[in-house]
Amino acid sequence: MSNPQDVLAERDLPYYEDVSPARGTLPPRAWFASSDAARLCLNGIWRFRLSPTATAADDSFAHREFDVSGWDELPVPAHWVLHGHGSPAYTNTPYPFPVDPPHLPTENPTGDHRFTFDLPPGWGGGETGQAAVLRFDGVESCARVWLNGQELGTFKGSRLPHEFEVGGLLRPRGNLLAVRVHQWSSGSYLEDQDQWWLPGIFRDVTLLHRPEGAVRDFFVHASYDHADGTGTLRVEAEPGGRVTVPELGLDLATGESATVPVEPWSAEIPRLYDAVLETDGERVPLRIGFRTVAVQGGVLKVNGRRILFRGVNRHEFHPEHGRAVDLETMRRDLLLMKQHNINAVRTSHYPPHPAFLDLCDELGLWVIDECDLETHGFHAVGWRGNPVDDERWTPALLDRAARMVERDKNHPSVVLWSLGNECGTGRGLTAMARWIRERDPARPLHYEGDLSCADVDVYSRMYADHAEVERIGRRAEAPWADGELDARRRAMPFILCEYAHAMGNGPGGLSEYQRLFETYERCQGGFVWEWIDHGIARHTGDGESWYAYGGDFGEELHDGNFVCDGLLFPDRTPSPGLTEYKKVIEPVRIGGDGRAGTVRIANGYDFADLSGLSFHWSYEVEGLAVGHGELAVPPLGPGESTELKLPEPPAPERPGEALWTVRAVLAGDTDWAGAGHEIAWAQLPAVPHPPLTSSGAPALLRQGEGNLFVLGRGAFDTATGELRYLDGFEIVPPRLDVWRAPTDNDEGAEWQPDARHGTIWRRLGLHRMRHRVVSVREGETELVVRTRVAPAATDLGLDTAFRWTADGTALRLDVSVVPEGDWPCPLPRLGVRLGVCTSLGLAEWYGGGPGEAYPDTRAASRIGRWTLPVDALQTPYVRPQENGARADVRWAELRREDGMGLRVEGAPAFWFTARRWTSEDLDAAAHTTDLRPGGAVWVNLDHGLHGIGSQSCGPGVLPQHRLTAAPADFSLTFRTVEPDAGSRP
Ligand code: GAL
Repeated sequence: MSNPQDVLAERDLPYYEDVSPARGTLPPRAWFASSDAARLCLNGIWRFRLSPTATAADDSFAHREFDVSGWDELPVPAHWVLHGHGSPAYTNTPYPFPVDPPHLPTENPTGDHRFTFDLPPGWGGGETGQAAVLRFDGVESCARVWLNGQELGTFKGSRLPHEFEVGGLLRPRGNLLAVRVHQWSSGSYLEDQDQWWLPGIFRDVTLLHRPEGAVRDFFVHASYDHADGTGTLRVEAEPGGRVTVPELGLDLATGESATVPVEPWSAEIPRLYDAVLETDGERVPLRIGFRTVAVQGGVLKVNGRRILFRGVNRHEFHPEHGRAVDLETMRRDLLLMKQHNINAVRTSHYPPHPAFLDLCDELGLWVIDECDLETHGFHAVGWRGNPVDDERWTPALLDRAARMVERDKNHPSVVLWSLGNECGTGRGLTAMARWIRERDPARPLHYEGDLSCADVDVYSRMYADHAEVERIGRRAEAPWADGELDARRRAMPFILCEYAHAMGNGPGGLSEYQRLFETYERCQGGFVWEWIDHGIARHTGDGESWYAYGGDFGEELHDGNFVCDGLLFPDRTPSPGLTEYKKVIEPVRIGGDGRAGTVRIANGYDFADLSGLSFHWSYEVEGLAVGHGELAVPPLGPGESTELKLPEPPAPERPGEALWTVRAVLAGDTDWAGAGHEIAWAQLPAVPHPPLTSSGAPALLRQGEGNLFVLGRGAFDTATGELRYLDGFEIVPPRLDVWRAPTDNDEGAEWQPDARHGTIWRRLGLHRMRHRVVSVREGETELVVRTRVAPAATDLGLDTAFRWTADGTALRLDVSVVPEGDWPCPLPRLGVRLGVCTSLGLAEWYGGGPGEAYPDTRAASRIGRWTLPVDALQTPYVRPQENGARADVRWAELRREDGMGLRVEGAPAFWFTARRWTSEDLDAAAHTTDLRPGGAVWVNLDHGLHGIGSQSCGPGVLPQHRLTAAPADFSLTFRTVEPDAGSRP
């Protein structure tokens, strides 16, 4: 309880500071996209004026006489900071103002907006004075509204709808809508989500005609009984009316229920029935999905079956428009999700634009709908004054819960309500949970921030490491102190509402999580953090585009590029992380024994059989298909599997590594991808890759002209033993290299308890290794160079031997590395780096591709022959960092435009990276535009790479993916290739 003396004299506070949620607004209700009642979209070009404080300008602008001819124009919906008025600011958890609830700084950017509109002909039967509602779908963070000079009221709750009754004020022409928006309000204390602070009217503004007898609100209850295949429909509506579902032959009074055989709705088969709700005054089209969500036997089930979330956290974001996201972009997000095997969205951390949920119903996504609530910044003050544990704020919390539930209650896609994110614990949350349970007992509750799980139905965590998830999967986690709560929690299903932090290069370790989700019934999947990088589009003077992150707008307090942690780049190009995720979560598992010619297919869908897919095989020798065909797979039901015989492999024309590729693709067009779209694949080795061979007699080492040794096609510096030329190509000599530009996941978050390798590497000086040539030994047919490679100020080192030999065409390098001293950390990489001429701009390789891969992000890397320009090998992480490695490369070529080039072969296969700048340049760059092509193409041929992990906000690299400093031996051959020499032996 608060001390009575502390009680705020709320009547003395201005509306933007008092904790009340709203004044003058209508009670919340269901959102619907259309009806036969007139509606007028008030989006468009408004007039706009920005003031530095909430009171700098008086409110006379709400009146017609006020002259706005000097004001700017601003589109609505929009954030004014993205239109040249002030700037965006990014913080993760810190409030960008003193934690002094509910007060705000006097500097409180305030945007006055004005819009004039006429009623369309025929509006409301041509008369005014009829009921009408003015709806705001999203305004950040607090608005005061006037229509025709009359004040309507105020509201807070940025990503929630707010409506006013305005009928009596409307006139046929020249209606004047005036809206004052304050960037900061008491509501800002409840909206400390990790994202840009972006004030403005950022969602639609609509005028809705409400004819006499129009639908005020309705609640569709459409359950499914999996035992008998029936659905039960009951629609509550105010006022009452009738509901018809022609396809089911239903014509019901509202409140009445009917049970009939139906096809259920699921994210996999999103069956919707068109229906109409009709009252005396309005006809509202409905799309009804029958489904039942329940926690049974410790498992979250839909329609009687355990579901597995293959999810992502989605913030609303557009690189130019911020959270003013148009319908096309919403659809694009969902199509991309479906195309990448994603089946679930957590609407982190607020209800999305309402139309987004219509699309989820239609396309099929499980949704955790999260309330617009986060008070994370109170963490910094020991949660003192946390609004969710202060009953003065409870009405505001309940208002937010109600606005979410009432708006979104009719969506079959919404399967869980989430109370909010990272608010600590408190009575306010309990009050919200109670209210939601009462209003909608048919959906379980989610909230991650209270480990006791007292108010929820699902045990949810973020960033728990694999070992802990496994313990939870076995229901063997550490007990909660209160026995009763412990027993309750232990009986709950488990999800990771956030995991696999997709910041920069990564996330690593997805496959290992997926294995746990597919092993333990309790582990029902997770939601990768997060869907998209929130980089704000910017252009250099000469038109080159780049993306801004925290600090780029001169913010005093910011969290840098922590805002760029998505599976999509800001322009919605999939990052390698998304390609990896798609592979890891593929709903069909393909395995088998390629040598024995058998393939095993398992259906991992929860509801769908495999009749929607067709299967194809191909047999590839050295990456070239020598045969392909269709594979007849029975329409296995969910959870079923089968083993099939592959055809006799075609006889290859020449020997070489051979493997089967088996793919599952869509058999026909769907709403989200066309026939042939790939869902799942696997490669099954049939014939292994042969070892490196040499052709012809060993070349003799001889003294050449100048200070050069000549060995086969190579020329070496006599003093250092370094390779200088290969067949006339000048080479920046290959050297042992251990450095990589630390990734965000290498750097790790400062709050991570375990070792942060990026920091350790820098402290050790791995970015400034010194090379001491110990010996250059000439043999008859070899040149052996020993080098000690070590950082300054330590006695750690890598004793390195390069043994060069040659035959008639190729130079061979055998590398042997022995670490000296007690290395306290894994190495970033271990291999050789060399530089070649910038004209060698086209890469072709046989190995993993087409995209980048690292030891724990390589599931999607497919063995094949790939060709890409060096420039396209780069992954443009918003903050530049290590990227672009290709895994399992057997050989790689770099060619000039005329086809001449260099070829490298490796045994074992190597990691191949080529770029026009060095790792040091990458490390120094803050934005992509800082990277400029230099005087060489830099090539890394790595024996090993350290994994990626997810430590930018989660666990580090799993032990099996760490590159421990240990003795290593590997071999490479180098040769030149002629134009179209068919060099691919
Ligand atoms: C979580 C939080 C997210 C985001 C993420 C890190 O703690 O819920 O909003 O901040 O960490 O990117």
